[in-house]
Amino acid sequence: MAVTENQVSEGAGIDPLDLIDSQRYGAKGAPHDPWKVLRGQPLQKVHAEGFQPFWPITRHGDVTAISGRPDDFSNEADSIIIWTDDQMERAASGEPNAFSQMRTIIAMDPPEHRTFRKVASGFFTPKGIERLDEIVTTSAKAVIDSLGPEGEADFVDKVAQRHPLRVLSTILGISRDQEDHLLELTQQLFAADDPDYAREADSREQSTAELGMEFYTMFNAIIEDRRANPQDDLATMLATATMPDGEPMGLVEILGYYLIVFNAGHDTTRHSLAGAIGAFLENPEQLQVLKAADESVIHTATEEVVRWTAPVNYMKRTAVRDITFTSEGFGDVQIEAGDSLALFYNSANRDDRVFTDPYNFDVTRSPNKHLGFGWAEHYCLGAHLARASIAALIVEIRNRVELLEPVGEASYTASSFVFGHKTLPVRYRISPS
Ligand code: HEM
Repeated sequence: MAVTENQVSEGAGIDPLDLIDSQRYGAKGAPHDPWKVLRGQPLQKVHAEGFQPFWPITRHGDVTAISGRPDDFSNEADSIIIWTDDQMERAASGEPNAFSQMRTIIAMDPPEHRTFRKVASGFFTPKGIERLDEIVTTSAKAVIDSLGPEGEADFVDKVAQRHPLRVLSTILGISRDQEDHLLELTQQLFAADDPDYAREADSREQSTAELGMEFYTMFNAIIEDRRANPQDDLATMLATATMPDGEPMGLVEILGYYLIVFNAGHDTTRHSLAGAIGAFLENPEQLQVLKAADESVIHTATEEVVRWTAPVNYMKRTAVRDITFTSEGFGDVQIEAGDSLALFYNSANRDDRVFTDPYNFDVTRSPNKHLGFGWAEHYCLGAHLARASIAALIVEIRNRVELLEPVGEASYTASSFVFGHKTLPVRYRISPS
């Protein structure tokens, strides 16, 4: 049964802006209630005022089915986020900026996507990541040590963002004195809709162009250094990568890789760590379970943190042809060539067809087939590293945190794309390592 855009917007009983408007995420958090409504309805295309129309994909089975068909549902055909009308106009005007020149694997389709993904995938295998165990463990200990034995702090600022910053900077060859600058740039890039983070500039175009230039300058210096002085790190692997035809990888692609590894890796891990601490604050009994259970809880808790937080809230796919799509249990819908689909991983992770008591944070949950790292073709390249980083912090929390309680309201980033805590004020007491 095909459902038209108008029928749906009026009939579904939800306000489509709740699904996609960054300001609403900042004010109200993730739209769990509307997602729950949508998971029980036929697929439907919605039109939130000020945004391009899109199909919200909220069920676990539909997200995996669409992710598994990259030849039909493309990352490359259009952007990976749902555009606002303004962004559509700017894109239509063809005005270039430094980012439109950079090519990243997240915006490629097969077969090219597979070729470029291979360049770095060796580094991100569990075996490759083993080399990073020490970096990850040392970093987690250091951030917890930096808090002192007791006090009050914003855990986003002091813990959640520091840990991935150190880990990613280490593998990408970014020196300690550049870490803070890089953090600022990435916040300006990802949370451009949030007035607390947005860069001061005359226009969005100007700010994007300046950001692109600053990223370029920083990463290009590292590339040149690693070509001259190779080391055993990802920075060298990217700087010296060759393509299957033996030609060196182009500068635009190398820079794109830097950009995606840092940007895809930092805010996501930061939000999952802050979300983990937020979940323990809301469910203090789970902290006791974490402490009492055997070692296997480190693994199950790590997966549950990613399910629970799903920091990549959605990714867009674009239909490259007219498609009759069958949504299990809800019949067929007609998706037209050029239509946008938002795969809401966060909603899929609460689908009760797959998860028992999906709204319970349960550090012992098993099995846990969450989609926090996506699925199939674009499955998160950094998943093992992210897991290792989260697990290292969970170990510190398990072994050392004696008291953890909220001391004020948490706040959230105004972003419907990569979403999570902005601040998390906490009172704590910590034992020495
Ligand atoms: C908890 C932390 C993380 C989460 C929740 C996360 C989530 C995701 C998701 C959902 C995707 C799929 C996007 C799509 O469907 O199109 C993705 C892709 C990707 N992630 Fe992550 N990520 C995390 C950490 C990292 C880290 C640490 C790195 C790198 C060091 C990384 C690098 C990437 C890259 C390069 C891609 C693109 C893969 C491709 O297009 O083939 N991510 N991530």
